[in-house]
Amino acid sequence: MKTNENPYIPFHATVEDTWFETGGERAIKTFKVVFDDEEVRKNWSHRPGQCAMIGVLGVGESMISISCSPTEGDFLRFSVMRMGKVTQALHQLEAGDKMTVRGPYGNSFPLEEWEGKHVLTIGGGIGQAPMRPVVEYVKANYEKYGGLTMIYGARTSGDLCFKEEFEDMARDDELSCHLTIDIEEEQWDHNVGFVPQVLMDVNPSPENAIAVTCGPPIMIRFVLENLKKLGFEDDQIYTTLENRMKCGIGKCGRCNAGNMYVCKDGPVFNYATLKEIPEAFA
Ligand SMILES: Cc1cc2nc3c(=O)[nH]c(=O)nc-3n(C[C@H](O)[C@H](O)[C@H](O)COP(=O)(O)OP(=O)(O)OC[C@H]3O[C@@H](n4cnc5c(N)ncnc54)[C@H](O)[C@@H]3O)c2cc1C
Ligand code: FES
Repeated sequence: MKTNENPYIPFHATVEDTWFETGGERAIKTFKVVFDDEEVRKNWSHRPGQCAMIGVLGVGESMISISCSPTEGDFLRFSVMRMGKVTQALHQLEAGDKMTVRGPYGNSFPLEEWEGKHVLTIGGGIGQAPMRPVVEYVKANYEKYGGLTMIYGARTSGDLCFKEEFEDMARDDELSCHLTIDIEEEQWDHNVGFVPQVLMDVNPSPENAIAVTCGPPIMIRFVLENLKKLGFEDDQIYTTLENRMKCGIGKCGRCNAGNMYVCKDGPVFNYATLKEIPEAFA
């Protein structure tokens, strides 16, 4: 792959399309992005679970999960929640504007190892961003897997990311897609209740299965408890960590958990490994 000699120097990219997933003060906006240099575009490869440092020149950069699967095409997608300086500047960008991208960074979900198994994803809020590529990848290679179950929830229907595509999935009888919101709403014809409870209602079998979860810490805590009740072993469970990051390449020490750098050794972790690192859940 074409790389810049200095790993801190990013590639230039153009925003091809943008749309809001959610509204409000902490709105989430998705960016479809293409690299300006054709050689970079051709040679770029990422895997589900990886992330990239995206930025606005003169403002700064933030680590963001790549929210599309490489099976979707020659572009990248990032879904960004408006938090502080950098994400506010990113939210100003529209189609045709420039951003910078360096990466891809981190490890990824071991999707080849999971072939033949049933893949269960359990997400909450913006936590669905790193899991959407898993869902898309398994859908694109469906014959290689033992099935796909997706559980995804948010506080209200307006807080769900990728809502329309997941509603289409939920209507597809061949897929097991379960959407949920915390409180009843008019015209909502999916589940109502917290994600960990919906997990128990769906009652997935742990046999020959892998569970991946990402979302708010409180959701993860109860999802992990419930997965154990359902009979999932620690090594059948994966999650991703989002420690604060600066360099993204294992040099600055900003992201360490125990003796690991989340930017290099993660962000994807097997729960059996994570349990050995008390700081991971701090
Ligand atoms: C591996 C990884 C993947 C990520 N993926 C996504 C993603 O797909 N979409 C997305 O919207 N965000 C994602 N984040 C979080 C994102 O990097 C931060 O929200 C962003 O850097 C904040 O930058 P800022 O300058 O806008 O805000 P700042 O001014 O730096 O901070 C504003 C607020 O955001 C909080 N914040 C900053 N960094 C983080 C962080 N890493 N985790 C939690 N809170 C933070 C601060 O505590 C503060 O309250 C990811 C982070 C990591 C490490
Ligand atoms: S962000 Fe610098 S070591 Fe991980």
